Amino acid sequence: MAVTDTQNTSLYDRLGGEPGVRKIVNDVLNRNLNNPLIGHHFRHVNMEKLMQLVFEFFSMGIGGPHTYTGRDMRTAHTGLHISENDFLEANKDTLLALEENGVGQAEKDEIIAILDSMKGEVISQ
Ligand code: HEM
Repeated sequence: MAVTDTQNTSLYDRLGGEPGVRKIVNDVLNRNLNNPLIGHHFRHVNMEKLMQLVFEFFSMGIGGPHTYTGRDMRTAHTGLHISENDFLEANKDTLLALEENGVGQAEKDEIIAILDSMKGEVISQ
């Protein structure tokens, strides 16, 4: 069986393990920071720390070996007033970063589905 078989290989491994996932997370967050529509949300944030926490969060969620040390999604986004449109804009940044990193369609679909599943915990809190 091929090692890229999506049934048997974790999403973490299919994205290139730690270096692959770290690069994608950093690229997404840099896009968010530089996106004129949502960048204001990140202006006073310690981006290095955020990159580490988001990396841990995804690693833990997609089959990687890391433990997430941050707050739960609802608590972390409370008071940020993230709109539905902000959420869609962030997803667009994610797709662009995934394309830039040569991520396949199946993986892109899985990642967007994961993000969409958490929308209710992130927006308008
Ligand atoms: C499903 C989508 C999302 C996930 C999985 C996610 C994940 C995270 C994680 C893991 C943290 C760190 C939590 C902590 O500091 O303890 C965080 C913080 C943060 N997120 Fe999100 N996030 C999502 C959507 C968004 C969106 C759409 C925005 C804004 C457009 C956003 C803005 C922020 C900001 C500004 C922080 C830093 C808060 C602070 O430092 O107090 N997030 N997010």
